[in-house]
Amino acid sequence: MRLTERHEKLTARSLIRMKSKGQKIAMITAYDFPTARLADDAGVDSILVGDSAAMVVLGYPDTRFVGIDEMITFCRAVTRAVRRALVIGDMPFMSYHVSHEDAVRNAGRFVKEGGVDAVKVEGGRHYADVVRSIVRAGIPVMGHVGMTPQFFVTSVGYRLRGKKVEDAEEVIKDAEEIARAGAFSIVLEFAVSEVAEYLSSTLEIPVIGIGAGPKCDGQVLVLHDVVGLYEKSPPFAKRYADVGTAILNAIKSYVEDVKADSFPGPEHTQFMDSAEREELRKRVGR
Ligand code: KIV
Repeated sequence: MRLTERHEKLTARSLIRMKSKGQKIAMITAYDFPTARLADDAGVDSILVGDSAAMVVLGYPDTRFVGIDEMITFCRAVTRAVRRALVIGDMPFMSYHVSHEDAVRNAGRFVKEGGVDAVKVEGGRHYADVVRSIVRAGIPVMGHVGMTPQFFVTSVGYRLRGKKVEDAEEVIKDAEEIARAGAFSIVLEFAVSEVAEYLSSTLEIPVIGIGAGPKCDGQVLVLHDVVGLYEKSPPFAKRYADVGTAILNAIKSYVEDVKADSFPGPEHTQFMDSAEREELRKRVGR
């Protein structure tokens, strides 16, 4: 029996409950129907429709290039597939940075048009009020602190956070403010394990790590890094399969078959009944 047939749909509260029971939370990204269905059937607790789609699906150089309409299309595909996992839509660059009204309106689009259960907002304490506004509108929000790729130009870049005590304190303050603003969970990206351990043990909400060591309440990875479909994976990602090579070899075999005239074979071809074939021959004269 598949997991999705046995379990109820998870909510933001379910993740908080899992933390309180000491159960680890497994989260992965997905952006389309087939991989979201596979992830759900594999038993992930949450699926993030991440703005990493910008690079791993759309081929942009960084996350700032993906737009809200593109993200909502990905969310729709994922929510059509998922039966159990909590689905979180990642609010892209410039969808919550301009004003609180904009942020609430766009978060609402993720829920109403994308069908997601919650949204994720990247950024430290300066975005606490944005989180507060969206939560006030009735939409669960996941925060995202530590390394924040949408802000790589104006903040520290793609760099490990918390190596020095001052920086560790910055990340801790960011997470605490976002938690106080009402987030139901926080992603902690590329930060030292000591910060992850402190936050996981002091915050009531789950801290989901990516590149933040094992002391988090759960982990998230980008699907394309996990299955080997992206060439520029970060050092903290673990590759569990080489699907890229499997796809490449499958397509090479298909090309060879077409060139050698060995595909399609009779099993992939439809024929008329013999009487119909005879009649056709008579009519077309061949
Ligand atoms: O966009 C994304 O995939 C993310 C994860 C790295 C947490 O934000």
